[in-house]
This record gives sequence, C-alpha cells and structure tokens, in this order.
Amino acid sequence: MAKTPELPFVGDITDYLEKGAPKDIRKAIKDAGKDEILDPGYPYDEEISKKDYEAQIEQLQLQLVRMMYDVIGKGKRVVVLFEGRDAAGKGGTIERVRENLNPRSANIIALPKPSEREAGQWYFQRYVDHMPAAGEIALFDRSWYNRGVVEDVFDFVTDQQREQFFRQLPDFERLLVDDGIILVKLWLNVGRAEQLKRFLDREKDPLKQWKLSWIDVEGLKKWDEYTDAIRETLSLSHSPVAPWTVIRSDDKKRARIAAIQTILNAVDYAGKDKKAIGRIDPLIAGGPELLL
Ligand code: ADP
Ligand code: AMP
Ligand code: MLT
Repeated sequence: MAKTPELPFVGDITDYLEKGAPKDIRKAIKDAGKDEILDPGYPYDEEISKKDYEAQIEQLQLQLVRMMYDVIGKGKRVVVLFEGRDAAGKGGTIERVRENLNPRSANIIALPKPSEREAGQWYFQRYVDHMPAAGEIALFDRSWYNRGVVEDVFDFVTDQQREQFFRQLPDFERLLVDDGIILVKLWLNVGRAEQLKRFLDREKDPLKQWKLSWIDVEGLKKWDEYTDAIRETLSLSHSPVAPWTVIRSDDKKRARIAAIQTILNAVDYAGKDKKAIGRIDPLIAGGPELLL
C-alpha cells in the first residue's frame, strides 16, 4: 500500500497481520465470516440484528433527549468517561449518545497529548477546565485514565508520577461527585482479533485512515502490557463513589446499547421510562470482574 507523508502508518497494520500477529489471531481474522464475532470468549456467536438494534437505539435516544431536558431544566451536570483500548469503539459510541442532543448541552472532550505547559501542571488540571457547568453533559473521549494505561505502556510517565496519580485519583473523583457531578465511567473492552480487524478496516478506508497513529501500530505489539496496565488501573479506581461499568464491545451495536442504558440509569430525570431503557444485558456489561 502506498504511503503518503500525511498517513505514514498506512500499510503497517497489514504488515503486522502478515508478520507479527500471533498465529491464532491471524487465523481468526482470515477465517471469519461476515458478522461473526472473533473473540472465542464473547457470549454471542453473531452480532445483534440491525432491526433489533435500530428499534432499541431509537427508544434509548428518546430517553437521552428526555434526560437532556431534565439536565438543562434542573441545572444538573453529567460527566461520562469513555475509555478502552484503541479501536474499542469509544468514538462511535459517543457519536450515538450525542447525535440527537443539543451540541450546546452535550460536549465531546477529546484532548490531545499534554502540551509542554500542561505537562508542567498538576496532572488533573487540564481536565478540570472541561468540567460541565449547570445544564451540561461532558462526554470524554479518553480522560485522565491515560495516565494509568497508555502513558504507562509507552513510558510517558515515571513510576513516581503514576503512583501519585493513583493516590490522588479517589480524592479527585470524590470531589467531583461531592460537588454534585454525576460521574459515569465506561470501559469498552475489545478482543485482540477484533481490534486488529478494526485497524485493518481503518487502514483500507480513506475516511478512517486519520484514526490511525503510531501509538496504534506500536500498541499492537504491546497487547499484554496493555492488559496488565488495564487490570491494575481498574482495580485501583473502582469504588462505590466512582464505579466502572465494563462493556464488551466486540459487537459495537450491543456495546452502544449497554453504554446508553448505563448513562440513563445513572441519571434521574422526569419521564424516565424504565421499560424503554430495558435491562442491561449482564453478559455484555458489568463491573471490572468482567475483565479481572
Ligand atoms: P487516539 O486513540 O485517542 O486517537 P492515540 O492512539 O494516538 O490517539 O493516542 C492515545 C492517547 O495517548 C491519546 O490520548 C494521546 O493524547 C496520548 N498520548 C500520545 N502521546 C503522548 C505523550 N507523549 N504523552 C502523554 N500522552 C500521550
Ligand atoms: P520499570 O523499568 O520496570 O521500573 O518500569 C518503568 C515504568 O514502565 C513502569 O511504570 C512500568 O509499569 C512501565 N512499563 C511496564 N511495561 C512496560 C513496557 N512494556 N513498555 C513501557 N513501559 C512499561
Ligand atoms: C475508538 O474506536 O475507540 C476510538 O475511535 C478511538 C480510537 O480507537 O482511536
């Protein structure tokens, strides 16, 4: 595949599939049928049908709109963190949450790597700048949890800084919740073959190539380091005040449904229709025990 200066990583994913990927992962990708779930541990063999998905997502989005009216009317503040490995489906899930909401009330926050000045500040400081005011819903595409995972795997953080991060974290999140912010922490979990398949799709699609970065390419070789950093992070940051919901995201559609259900369950709002929200599939979403 031709490389352009703007897209220096195009081709590297195919190279990894051919030369670097573990055999079972390569085989799973090559043998997979359409709509087949690649992860052998996933609880369903196939993706949810389009019809079922569309019917559910419409109901859920109507509930999100009701939630938004209430957030605006009562001056509530909501923070939702979307976390997970690269290509876990954070961006797509956020889009489905936001698509029928007023962009003035629902903001997406996707911060770049810290600037030199930010690197010289209190670690949480730049995130504090983006906390919602009354009537706002802040959707974080990645968050302060970078320090627990990607910064560890790529050595962007010293051991001492990381320890300090985990020491300050419970107090930081408690302060947010104590001040009245509704904090929802979602961890999207993608399997190794599915992640690689999504990277291959991005590599082929000119509309998606921008999503690839050198971190994604190098991260492929660091699957196990990620696993260790994720386990440690979840076990050190799951608490009654600020619990995680882990969502299996090999089927993006089921993951989006569970993510929206989790957000709706966390907020009290006028006109909340428990039947329309439905029951969260316990095979798809739960606590960190899904991962640990
Ligand atoms: P994304 O998956 O968000 O599109 P990447 O996979 O390229 O982006 O990077 C993953 C995360 O690592 C991003 O949040 C990025 O800001 C962060 N990151 C990249 N480089 C650094 C760095 N030098 N120091 C700290 N964080 C970094
Ligand atoms: P060490 O050199 O083992 O003291 O690790 C230094 C930091 O790098 C620690 O925060 C480790 O958790 C982190 N780390 C662990 N594995 C890796 C890896 N494969 N690549 C980069 N950093 C890692
Ligand atoms: C995702 O799919 O999780 C997000 O779009 C971020 C990414 O993978 O780069």
